[in-house]
This record gives sequence, C-alpha cells and structure tokens, in this order.
Amino acid sequence: VSDINLVAPSLLSCDFAHLAEEIKAVEDAGADWLHVDIMDGHFVDNLTIGPPVVASIKKASKIPLDVHLMIENPEKYIAEFVKVGSDRVTIHVESTKDVRGALKKIRELGAKPGITLRPKTSLDEVQEFFSLVDLVLIMTVNPGFGGQSFMPEQMEKVRHVKAWSQKNNSKLFIEVDGGVNSKTVGVCREAGANVFVAGNAIFKSGNYQQAIKSLK
Ligand code: DX5
Ligand code: ZN
Repeated sequence: VSDINLVAPSLLSCDFAHLAEEIKAVEDAGADWLHVDIMDGHFVDNLTIGPPVVASIKKASKIPLDVHLMIENPEKYIAEFVKVGSDRVTIHVESTKDVRGALKKIRELGAKPGITLRPKTSLDEVQEFFSLVDLVLIMTVNPGFGGQSFMPEQMEKVRHVKAWSQKNNSKLFIEVDGGVNSKTVGVCREAGANVFVAGNAIFKSGNYQQAIKSLK
C-alpha cells in the first residue's frame, strides 16, 4: 500500500540510562514503531541487548516493537524474543541454514516475520522468502553500528522489492535501515520504501518531533 509511511526510531542511538523517557519522548513525537537492534558480536562486530532489556522496553512502550536480529542461529532465541513482547522479528538471510523454519517459527509464536539483506546480499538469496514475510528490510549500511553513511546503490533492491510487492503482496512493509535522515529519506520513498528506521537522525537531533516530522 503506497500510503503507508512509518517512522521507526532505532533505540541503538538513544540514551540507555533514560530508556523509558526516551521511548516516551519518541512516542509523543509521532514514532510509529520502535526499532530494536539485537547484536551478538558474531554475526556483526558489536554487542547490544538481549531479552531482559527488550522486556523492559515493552513495559515502557505503547507502540509495536520492530526487533532486528543481527545474531547467528536466531532460531535459538526467537521464542524468548517473542515472549518478552517483540511484535515483529526480522532475521538476516545469512544468519541461519533454516531461514524458512525460523520465519515459520516467528509466525507460529504470534509475531510478524521479516527478512533482511545486508548491502552485500543479492536479491537472488532472499527472493524465495518474500512470500513468507510481512516485511523486507533493506540495509542501507553494513549492519553493526549507528551513524554510518547511507548507501544509495541499495535503492535498486528497494525498487525490485516494491515491484514484487505490487504483483504479489501490496501490504508488504518495505523498510530501510542505516543512514536514513531528512536528506536521504526522499530517495528511499521514491524507490518504494514505506518504513523508515532512523537512529542518529532522531536521537542526535535535539528535537525529536521536528526530526520525525521532517522524515515523514
Ligand atoms: C545498524 C542498525 C540500525 C542503526 C541505524 O546495524 O541496524 O538500526 O541503529 O542507525 P542510523 O540511523 O544512525 O544509521
Ligand atoms: Zn536495525
């Protein structure tokens, strides 16, 4: 649906010492989903948070949790992440040998599955999973850290996924993540993205309401 236009602040860039206040502030500022980055130090070269912190985020929030798993063998942890309140769980196609099984598990447990591509990942590697998911996430930086530069060459993939969704699933969420700000959001939208993750562009802006408004 082309009128979907959602902003998902990435909590990775927030002040973790004031997590509940940060969540309330972005919710009041018009955030649609909260994007939660889970990293294991293996699949990506960084470590973040696990299920207990996600449980705390859930308690402090009113909007859906969009959980982005950057971990190896996600199937091992899916049940726990859903149990603590993940509404959406997105996995990387390279993170498991059984992508199909992992996506099925997410749905059976009651959450919405998503599949994601790194900048290096080709469409051929993920296309077969599009019909099993509610969301396709196209990374516009190498996953692992906030505050990196947007990779415009990834827009070709966004256009391809958009074309697929027009034929097969008009309700598909097409999400971009990495370096999205008021300057780069336009090309994402034009290419067909309808969910915009932003970390630094919101949390380092000094004015969340204005930042979210300018993204929308
Ligand atoms: C990167 C994460 C992103 C990150 C985006 O691996 O997946 O969600 O927080 O941060 P910005 O918007 O600052 O690039
Ligand atoms: Zn992310």
